[in-house]
Amino acid sequence: MDDYLWWRDGIIYQIYPRSFADSNGDGLGDLPGIIARLDYLADLGIDAIWLSPFYPTPDADFGYDVSDHTAVDPRFGTLEDFDRLVAESHRRGIRLVLDLVLNHTSDQHPWFRESCASRDNPKRDWYIWKPPSVSPHFRRKWGESKRGAPNNWQAAFGGPAWEYDETTGQYYLHMFLAEQPDVNWRNPEVRKAQLDVVRFWLARGVDGFRLDVFNAYFKDAQFKNNPPKFGLRGFDRQCHVYDCDQPEMIPLLNDLRAILDAHPEHYAVGETFFATPEKVLYYSGPDRLHAAFSFDFTPTDLFYPWNPAWLLKQIERREAFFTGEHWPTNVFSNHDIPRTATRYTHGEQDALAKIAVTLLLTLRGTPFMYYGEEIGMRDVSLRRGEIMDPPGKRYWPIFKGRDGCRSPMQWDDTPYAGFSSAKPWLPVHPNYHQRNVAAQNEDTDSLLNFTRKLIALRKEYPALQRGEFVPLLTRPRDALVYLRRTATQTVLVALNFHDRRVCEPLDQDMTGNRWRSLLTARDDSAALLSDNCLELAPHQVCMLVSP
Ligand code: NOJ
Repeated sequence: MDDYLWWRDGIIYQIYPRSFADSNGDGLGDLPGIIARLDYLADLGIDAIWLSPFYPTPDADFGYDVSDHTAVDPRFGTLEDFDRLVAESHRRGIRLVLDLVLNHTSDQHPWFRESCASRDNPKRDWYIWKPPSVSPHFRRKWGESKRGAPNNWQAAFGGPAWEYDETTGQYYLHMFLAEQPDVNWRNPEVRKAQLDVVRFWLARGVDGFRLDVFNAYFKDAQFKNNPPKFGLRGFDRQCHVYDCDQPEMIPLLNDLRAILDAHPEHYAVGETFFATPEKVLYYSGPDRLHAAFSFDFTPTDLFYPWNPAWLLKQIERREAFFTGEHWPTNVFSNHDIPRTATRYTHGEQDALAKIAVTLLLTLRGTPFMYYGEEIGMRDVSLRRGEIMDPPGKRYWPIFKGRDGCRSPMQWDDTPYAGFSSAKPWLPVHPNYHQRNVAAQNEDTDSLLNFTRKLIALRKEYPALQRGEFVPLLTRPRDALVYLRRTATQTVLVALNFHDRRVCEPLDQDMTGNRWRSLLTARDDSAALLSDNCLELAPHQVCMLVSP
């Protein structure tokens, strides 16, 4: 299509750099490792890479605690490697989207070190410092020695969001770990310095950004207490109305968008903290972000549903919101949640993983594919002593952390799965002997080859890019059946979630169309459209096109 737009019509592939490919045998993935695998990504057919942080970091939060926003951590390579990554990606028609962590820095960042030095340091106000609370409530709670935190805000990774600094006798705010102090976006110098980071990477040729927890940048000017609500952990027992989503965010997004729009087809997607469709609409649009994650298909802490009725409800809710200039994102997996295949499949079978990847690539919206999703990687199980992720350490065994979904990419069946020549920073999943890129390349029926085919179809058929979504079973039980339709093309997608044969009478008469089969995950029994009834084999994926 002439008006193909990469970030809307294409596929964005997330790489967690330390786990993708290690070029120098230190057990940690790196930028040259990624460069060496670009041909694989080009062949897969993706349009862009979203690169999780590779900046210098003391690793309190494995890269999401940045100590220098405009450099490459030597363990991951050099700025020259980065430039090569940009050039080599572009040479293959792949764009590069960087993860920008601008809500907080590492406590080792030179800005924070200065800020801590004294109350009158010029960088003191670059972070959020408050005197201890004198409220009798907090005095009772914390005792005289420590005195009270300035308000009741909690950190997402546990404990109060305030850390007391003995040297200067004040608290600083951190929405995540104490090692991740929040910057003060209300300070004009901070704002300029942060936007200069954006300009720095644009000048080096990147095509866009994923903004980490962008809607937490501004906090309530009065630091009012958050109201309580029911929840398990302290952080979940509050409505987060004063520690994020402040009105000052919009003028900032306007400025950011103006910077991006000076470069054609540049893009920003925000990671929405406490995402709701309303928030996502509010933060995206022509003078705001291009998109913001709404996380319609990823689990909350306790709730992992995966059935046609629930999925259709989520899809229809999205469809009602994302109209006109608002464009949805399709996310099933990322570096913060258990992988799709771990959540919804049993053992090593991939029938349900094929259903999941079909949804990812055929629902309306930009698909974000997490590295390894194309080969159905499962989360690795770790013993308590192996856990690296701070929230996992804190909340084990209730929450075992996010390491499971960050294990090394499984390239082949050589030691360490071809990821590295040395012991990797996290264990490789023991299933790598069978589940790896090399083996799936050889198997025509593999998830990898199925995903490749789907990506190619999405590229070829405009209906799969921008076509409207029309459900054909409005009260689904066993299967999801829907159309993606433009004025001139209709693609029918049918997914049987059950391990038995089903026959679904469709809500609309489809027998008049002349259908051609595009793809089926079970070629032993194609779906039949007779008497307007669609017959699907166990776990069948079927795609038809008309005309
Ligand atoms: C969201 C990121 O996705 C997550 O990995 C990180 O721990 C927090 N933000 C803090 O930066």
